[in-house]
Amino acid sequence: MNYKDKTIIITGASSGIGKALAEELAKRGANLVLGARQYVTLCEITSELEKQYGIKALAVQTDVSKEEDCAQLINQAVLTFGQIDVLINNAGLSMRALFKDLDLSVLKNLMDVNFWGTVYCTKYALPEILKTKGVIVGVSSIAGYRGLPGRTGYSSSKFAMNGFMESLRTELLKTGVHVMVACPGFTTSNIRVAALSKDGQAHGETSMEEGKMMTAKQVASCISDGIEQRKRTLIMTRQGKLAVWMNKLFPAFTDKKVFQLFAKEKNPLIK
Ligand SMILES: NC(=O)c1ccc[n+]([C@@H]2O[C@H](COP(=O)([O-])OP(=O)(O)OC[C@H]3O[C@@H](n4cnc5c(N)ncnc54)[C@H](OP(=O)(O)O)[C@@H]3O)[C@@H](O)[C@H]2O)c1
Repeated sequence: MNYKDKTIIITGASSGIGKALAEELAKRGANLVLGARQYVTLCEITSELEKQYGIKALAVQTDVSKEEDCAQLINQAVLTFGQIDVLINNAGLSMRALFKDLDLSVLKNLMDVNFWGTVYCTKYALPEILKTKGVIVGVSSIAGYRGLPGRTGYSSSKFAMNGFMESLRTELLKTGVHVMVACPGFTTSNIRVAALSKDGQAHGETSMEEGKMMTAKQVASCISDGIEQRKRTLIMTRQGKLAVWMNKLFPAFTDKKVFQLFAKEKNPLIK
């Protein structure tokens, strides 16, 4: 896909991977529709990208857990640009708490944002993407292939997302629409700071060594190339590839390895 003059919707574009994707795709010539809750931040991003790259960009305040907001995001994109070529379901929220301590509203919140947000946006965008034979992307996670301790809600929502995307890809096989699942490894961003604690409050600090991770810019470049090449699944790190592969072949051994990894977090939840 040549990005010039294509219309791309990115959810969760006010921070981290979504914001980096907006910059990368603007650089490659796409027009953008950016959705997230922080409207002022989105407007600052769109006006900077328009100035810097000469593209057109629209900010739409969107809470993806609300179906009507997702419908509005897609509507605004069509009204402004007349077409949708790519939808990137990137908005996401994480958590950090043991299930025994977890208020169930946290798990529901994660499903609402990560899973239902993807379903709503995809549902409303699909008729337009069928017309352009475009691409639907789900920014998922290795946590969608391998359950992670302290992240029951996050892993469940990403497993659900992966199942949804796989079913949809198969349904759309003969339509010309492409469905890609992108699974970054650990990436430096706000995700662990915004992650919900057992009672739904933001964790407020990261539990990991952020300096050793992929950068959002690297992830954005990898996803942009993946869309262009119509890749099926992107697993971006060696650690991620190893985790998915080992979990298929040696699941009980992988339970122990994942336990050991998460027992090394700052203030670990498991010991
Ligand atoms: N960072 C990692 O290590 C990592 C690894 C694998 C996968 N991922 C996935 O990558 C995606 C992006 O995460 P990130 O690392 O860039 O995190 P981030 O910096 O925290 O960004 C998350 C984005 O999602 C948006 N968002 C959260 N709740 C929302 C809601 N209800 N409605 C609309 N937007 C919402 C936030 O915007 P507002 O607050 O303005 O709404 C923000 O723009 C997520 O799906 C995450 O699961 C991240």
